[in-house]
Amino acid sequence: MTNMRSMIWVLLLVALAATRSSAALTGDYYCSPFSCFYFTLDSVKQTVTISVASTVSIGWIGLGFGKAMIGPELNVIWIKNDNKSVMISRRKATNFQIPKALANQTGLIIGKTTISNNQLAFSFTRPQVLPDSTVNTATKQFLWSYALNKPATDTIDTTFDRHDAKGEFSLDLTKPLATATATSTPTSIPNFGPPPTGLTVTDYMTIAHGIIMFVALGALVPSA
Ligand code: HEM
Repeated sequence: MTNMRSMIWVLLLVALAATRSSAALTGDYYCSPFSCFYFTLDSVKQTVTISVASTVSIGWIGLGFGKAMIGPELNVIWIKNDNKSVMISRRKATNFQIPKALANQTGLIIGKTTISNNQLAFSFTRPQVLPDSTVNTATKQFLWSYALNKPATDTIDTTFDRHDAKGEFSLDLTKPLATATATSTPTSIPNFGPPPTGLTVTDYMTIAHGIIMFVALGALVPSA
C-alpha cells in the first residue's frame, strides 16, 4: 500500500515535470504587405512550425533564413496548378539569378492547406536544425519576397520570374507562445481563419492533466 502511494507520487511528479517541459512553445510572427509568417518553436520536439498566409493573390512567396538573398536557404512557395496543394522548393542563391534547388529537399512536412482566390494559408513543420538552415530561439534574421507570376512548372527545380517586392524582417523566437498567439491573429486576411499555430500551453496542460487523472484515479487508486 505504502509502495503504491509512493508510486502514485512519483508518477505525479514525473507527469508534472513532463507538463513543464512540454510547455516550452515559443514563437513570433511578421506580416509583409503580401503575406504573414508565423513561427512556433517546440523545444521538446526540436521542431519549428511555420504558417504562411497570403493577404493578396500570389504567384510565389519567398522566405529566406538569413540576412541577404545570396547565401542562406530560401524557400519558394506557390500554389500548384491543381489549385489544391502547395509546393515548397528549398533553394540557395550564389548570385542575383534564379536560386538553385537544394539537392536535399526532404525535411519539411506540409500541414493543413487552404487555397481560395489564388490566396494561400498553410503550415509546414521541420526540424529546427537542417543541414542548410537553422531556426531556433537564437535565430533572428529572415527575408521575404513576393511575385505576382507563378513559377513555370510545379517542379522543385522550376524557373520563375524575380520578385516584385522583397525585404528583411527580424523575429524574437524566445517569446512564450501564449503571448505570440494572443497577438498573432491576422486581421486583414480575407476568407481565411487564423492559421494553425500548434497547440497552446493551456492545451498541453489540459492533456497532461487528463493523463495524470486517468492514470492516478482510473488505474492506480482502484488497484491500491
Ligand atoms: C528568380 C529568382 C530571383 C531573382 C532573379 C532575384 C534577383 C534579385 C536581384 C537582382 C536583387 C538585387 C537588386 C534588388 O535589390 O532588387 C535581389 C535582391 C534581393 N532578393 Fe532576390 N531574386 C530572386 C529570388 C529571390 C528569393 C527566392 C528570395 C527569397 C526571400 C529573394 C530575396 C531577395 C532579397 C531580400 C533581396 C534584397 C537584397 C539582399 O538581401 O540581398 N530573392 N534579388
